[in-house]
Amino acid sequence: MLVAPSLLAADFLHLEDEVRKLNAGADWIHLDVMDGTFVPNISFGFSVLDAVASIAAKPMDAHLMVVHPERWFKRLAEDGMSCVSFHLEAAGRRTAANIAEIQSLGMKAGVVINPDVPVKRLFPYIGKADFFLIMSVFAGFGGQKFIYESLDRVAELRNEIKKRGARALIEVDGGVSADNAAALREAGADVVVAGSSVFRSQDPLAAMQVLREA
Ligand code: DX5
Ligand code: ZN
Repeated sequence: MLVAPSLLAADFLHLEDEVRKLNAGADWIHLDVMDGTFVPNISFGFSVLDAVASIAAKPMDAHLMVVHPERWFKRLAEDGMSCVSFHLEAAGRRTAANIAEIQSLGMKAGVVINPDVPVKRLFPYIGKADFFLIMSVFAGFGGQKFIYESLDRVAELRNEIKKRGARALIEVDGGVSADNAAALREAGADVVVAGSSVFRSQDPLAAMQVLREA
């Protein structure tokens, strides 16, 4: 699997060192953008993203937990994001237009759902979105417990993608660790996001490797 560590769990007093760890061992760099409205938390904005972008050597993956995500696509493209995902709950009927806009800016488009949104609601975007992000905790905070029902949700989406002969990556975010990574791979996940289990580890490089090889 690809490993996309979440910078949210990094030591912000030593952000440069933390990004360099990801340059050494991550596949993607996952960047959680929160606006305090879509989720009850605020993470970081463009001043931090600009700084990270200036030294990032791996593809950057922005996960937008904001209302009106479409306001930021162009700015994110200017910062060199490779992947941008936005919540279906925030985009509603704009979802297909958002996917097209992200792709027209040269980035991969992802649609995210929280654990309480039926997976079927993603089906209309199979064949359109480049990837889907299944939240395995409720978006907003790092360090939460993995919700095991997420495995069935990943499998349900994987089956439907297969059934339609389409291609799309499935990314999973929230509470991912060595304890559930193998089960996620078996369920059909391609990319795992991991904050705490990478940055709180004694050896983040080894932790990334364990997830990759799960
Ligand atoms: C939660 C974020 C996640 C979070 C993951 O809203 O989307 O990316 O940082 O952190 P852990 O791995 O600690 O659950
Ligand atoms: Zn995230």
